[in-house]
Amino acid sequence: MKRILVVGAGGQIGTELVPHLQKLYGKDNVIGADLKDLQVEKLREGGIGEKLDATDANAFADLVKKYKVDSIFNLVALLSATGEKMPELAWKLNMGALLNSLNIAKEFKCSVFTPSSIGAFGSSTPHYKTPQDTVMRPNTIYGVCKVAGELLSDYYFTRFGVDTRSVRFPGIISNGAQPGGGTTDYAVEVFYEIIKDGHHYTCEVPQDSYMDMMYMPDALKAVTDLMEADPARLIHRNSFNIASMSFCPKELFEAIKKRIPDASFDYDIDPVKAAISASWPDIMDDSCAREEWGWKPEWGMEAVVDDMLAAVRKKSVK
Ligand SMILES: NC(=O)c1ccc[n+]([C@@H]2O[C@H](COP(=O)([O-])OP(=O)(O)OC[C@H]3O[C@@H](n4cnc5c(N)ncnc54)[C@H](O)[C@@H]3O)[C@@H](O)[C@H]2O)c1
Repeated sequence: MKRILVVGAGGQIGTELVPHLQKLYGKDNVIGADLKDLQVEKLREGGIGEKLDATDANAFADLVKKYKVDSIFNLVALLSATGEKMPELAWKLNMGALLNSLNIAKEFKCSVFTPSSIGAFGSSTPHYKTPQDTVMRPNTIYGVCKVAGELLSDYYFTRFGVDTRSVRFPGIISNGAQPGGGTTDYAVEVFYEIIKDGHHYTCEVPQDSYMDMMYMPDALKAVTDLMEADPARLIHRNSFNIASMSFCPKELFEAIKKRIPDASFDYDIDPVKAAISASWPDIMDDSCAREEWGWKPEWGMEAVVDDMLAAVRKKSVK
């Protein structure tokens, strides 16, 4: 990878992936693009920022040509909870941005990274140690797009030789940009709410709902390690299970309460989020990622709680 275009760069993952890529490949070799003006302004403060609607194939191709891009990181998506409110838009946006990424990559000989998700699985998937290759019949439009996207990306690799690679991200915990409407967002929101006066958080996900989670530094490392991996070692491509920790709201809140004794929690369950979280894996088996490209996470829940509380406190006094 020498020149990288990140589309959907102004969101939760992009705002941290762009500086991570800049550190590895140089500021002038990473172009961040987003639909929203405010996000583009922020990208311009830290490097190269461009306004782009990723569903506009011509504008997308023009950017790839302008910057002589050889790698496309496509982060554009409506996430799981928001997608259920606008299923048709979710399909058009998620698949439209992906199809453009793949066609442009084919034309300009780029590699493509598009994240999949734990949302690609559904109720009929084994929930404990979910295998790499297993039943994938998701119950959400987000999941339908992720499964279709995985298949389409593999198709572009086998049919046209496009170097497509992907991971199934767990819920990502971070302290940069706020999460964009997913079912695992509670594991970020709680840190911001709990340090406010009152130290209280109301959770919309059931207390005993286990889901895979990952801290942003591990997620970023996964992306670049996979994209730099020796292709000869890759048996899979789209998309690898990656895991680092699995917990339920109750366990996370107990860990927070150990550090903030007057913290209090209650539940006002969102039926959509409850149904989605119940359909997703409790914990994935990531042995293929470990064997094929050396995946090894560094962060567990207790360390994440310490780091998140410190980072969010620091932000709140600025
Ligand atoms: N955050 C997570 O916990 C998580 C977990 C699993 C998978 N993922 C996947 O990772 C990717 C990025 O997720 P995220 O959390 O950063 O999402 P996000 O919602 O925070 O960011 C998406 C960005 O895309 C931009 N965008 C929307 N429409 C666009 C368009 N037409 N053209 C260009 N930009 C557009 C938005 O302005 C936003 O900045 C998605 O594919 C998502 O499914 C995320």
